[in-house]
Amino acid sequence: MGWRRWKIILYKREKGIRCRDNSQKEYSSKGEVQYRELLATKHGRSTNNEILEENSNLVKISCFIYPTYSKEVEEELRKAGFDYAYSFGQKNLGSLKVLGKGKTGIVVLVEPYKVLKIRRTDAPKETLEIEAKLQIKAGEEVAPRVYDYGKNFILMEYIHGRNLMKNERRETIIDLLERARILEEKLIEHKELSRPWKNVIVSYNRTYIIDYDSATIKEKPRNVTKLLSNYLNRRDLGVKYSKSEITFDQLLSQLF
Ligand SMILES: Nc1ncnc2c1ncn2[C@@H]1O[C@H](COP(=O)(O)OP(=O)(O)O)[C@@H](O)[C@H]1O
Ligand SMILES: [Mg+2]
Repeated sequence: MGWRRWKIILYKREKGIRCRDNSQKEYSSKGEVQYRELLATKHGRSTNNEILEENSNLVKISCFIYPTYSKEVEEELRKAGFDYAYSFGQKNLGSLKVLGKGKTGIVVLVEPYKVLKIRRTDAPKETLEIEAKLQIKAGEEVAPRVYDYGKNFILMEYIHGRNLMKNERRETIIDLLERARILEEKLIEHKELSRPWKNVIVSYNRTYIIDYDSATIKEKPRNVTKLLSNYLNRRDLGVKYSKSEITFDQLLSQLF
């Protein structure tokens, strides 16, 4: 399955939008451009609200540099072609909306199907390059596709979905375990799968493991075991699997 034809007509309209965060006051400006998404069709159905709210605003990229403005970050983003991002998502960033706000990055929509993870200026890591490389190594079977990256950003595929919940359907759990297993084949240990809620996006037809900020390369990575022991409360199976006493298929048949 996949997205079919998308048709998006964007109309520009002048409107004064301010980046209200006090710390960024001097970079605020009136007369930002507001784009209105008029038409989006997916399999012939209108999905205006699903992907982009009708009145999502395009805001200067500098407004998403958080918590304090950095010229270096803005220059890198602009050089890579990002002058604006949408004020869109469930999380608040001052007066703006964003898709995500973690300890390392702010995630914003820059195109209908692309998001930018912008390194927070107070992030514990100096660069997002290692994270981006691990996400590329994880591959599209497991993680959102990476299009571009730099010290202060990762441009990746936008995943429309929700966070993992406590009680998921059998198919979703199998799908997630399978992707966690693929990560092991690639010698990647994710490290944050014992608390998987925010690190797994459940989309309409599959799961995605996101955020490779803490991930490392290991000879014997443990992702499946972490999910079994913590999320699925089956430490017994986790131990057997990590000691190679049972195969992945045996694990699945014993789990359900
Ligand atoms: N590709 C994506 N598509 C949609 N939402 C995303 C995507 N990547 C991240 N997010 C959202 O942004 C949040 C923060 O991203 P994350 O990579 O976990 O940042 P951090 O490293 O700061 O924790 C996620 O929990 C998720 O809700
Ligand atoms: Mg995170």
